[in-house]
Amino acid sequence: MSVNVSMAMIPAAVSEFMRGPHRLLIDGKWVPAASHRTFPTHNPADGSLLSDIAAAEAVDVDLAVTAARRAFDDGPWSRMAPAARAKLIWKLADALEAQAEEFAFIETLDNGKPLNDAKVVDLPHSIEVLRYFAGWCTKLNGESISISNPGTWHAYTTREPVGVVGSITPWNAPLMMAVSKIAPALAAGCTVVLKPAEQTPLTALKLGQLILDVGFPDGVVNILTGFGETAGAAMTAHPGIDKVTFTGSTEVGRLIVRAAAADFKRVTLELGGKTPVIVFPDADIDRAIEGAARSIFSNAGQICNAGSRLYAHRDVFERLVDGVSRRASEIRVGAGLAASTQMGPVVSQEQLERISGFIASGQNQGAEIRAGGGRIGSEGYFIQPTVLTGTRPDMDVVQQEIFGPVLCAMSYDEADLDRIAREANATNYGLGAVLWTQNLSTAHKMARKLKAGTVRVNGGGLDPALPFGGFKQSGWGRELGREGIEGYTELKSVAMAL
Ligand code: NAI
Ligand code: MG
Repeated sequence: MSVNVSMAMIPAAVSEFMRGPHRLLIDGKWVPAASHRTFPTHNPADGSLLSDIAAAEAVDVDLAVTAARRAFDDGPWSRMAPAARAKLIWKLADALEAQAEEFAFIETLDNGKPLNDAKVVDLPHSIEVLRYFAGWCTKLNGESISISNPGTWHAYTTREPVGVVGSITPWNAPLMMAVSKIAPALAAGCTVVLKPAEQTPLTALKLGQLILDVGFPDGVVNILTGFGETAGAAMTAHPGIDKVTFTGSTEVGRLIVRAAAADFKRVTLELGGKTPVIVFPDADIDRAIEGAARSIFSNAGQICNAGSRLYAHRDVFERLVDGVSRRASEIRVGAGLAASTQMGPVVSQEQLERISGFIASGQNQGAEIRAGGGRIGSEGYFIQPTVLTGTRPDMDVVQQEIFGPVLCAMSYDEADLDRIAREANATNYGLGAVLWTQNLSTAHKMARKLKAGTVRVNGGGLDPALPFGGFKQSGWGRELGREGIEGYTELKSVAMAL
């Protein structure tokens, strides 16, 4: 980190927003928590206090669910013409685009990510997700079914909104996560209670302002800031919520499934990952180095789909590890608002300690540090981009999600694709996998063998139209794409004797 950095000037509108007060959005109004309790949110770049935020608890959850139920059951939203819903969601996208600069600043202050990343990744993707799902409002069809005795009766299916959705989101891409859950729910005709992560509540609150500005009916979107153990748990237990969508840790995913079992709430879970990056000897190695480095160091590794396990063929392993380690040492780590920054701090002291703990455990179990490995400075939560070699499949660093800029690099020396796939598949997770090869046959064969929700070959990113989700303990269901919106519907079969 250099000392004399030029920091981006915070726009006046952002400073004004930061001052607050930050309250809960319930039934179209901003209200304090019933308890009047608040909690602080901090800037990960220096640990300073940004704002005090209303701390919702069970009583507030109850009020928000009541409002969402009314907006759904009495129809201002679920019975609004799909084209009218589409128009409002599109207006929200336009409003977000008009204030993209402010949102990017707020995201950087609250989460720590480089301002440029917020501008070129988080904001455009959020806007596109809204527009993509706005388009689906008018295209949610059932099917007519070819039943076994045609002519005597007729049958068809319809898709109906599932009802009130409780969305619980994480801190790594706060706005993107909030929008990825709100947009398909609204497009399907559901109403929403959203609880953003306690570490990063600000962009969700700012989004709440836009939701009011563009004229969504009261109660259609309610936003409750607060902690997981209180507000989050009260949502998953609430009988007025029909579906819970969650992105976060596998551990909390398990708690949510248990709570949802009480009344069989519908559940979609986007949990952890341990994505393998498999490099074949015929790959374009320079591009593979770039891609592997980007996959683990973007957003300081705080991405569920981060490429955290590198498997490179023995013939290219040294070149790859050298290249990725060199990239690691060149990345400019610093405050998200500094113009030169390529990687920001991690989100909190807790995450910093968790990541450092993983690096230490890797070393204790025999891994070597080829790049990074340490904390940077003593203020803020900065950690060096890190490459570990000598890691074995049984180590914690290879099995568990670190959620930081830490790559475990391993080699293989066989040609048998089944054995390579078996090693790549040998974790409890199954969110993503990345392949680097110029051989189409290898690419297609491996894509079939990998137990992962998303397989990327030689690059490729996130797209609102492409379903995203995990095999195994990486989750239940899919977000984005047609499957993403269908997850917010119930399927009804209608049968009719002729
Ligand atoms: P977390 O799973 O505790 O937090 C995610 C969300 O769940 C937050 O909104 C939180 O308030 C809420 N939550 C927590 N406990 C809850 C409960 N009992 N009932 C309902 N909601 C609850 O994740 P945390 O502790 O912030 O991070 C721990 C690890 O989880 C990370 O190191 C990372 O490995 C993983 N994680 C994965 C994410 C992903 O994108 N898949 C995102 C965030 C964390
Ligand atoms: Mg937690």
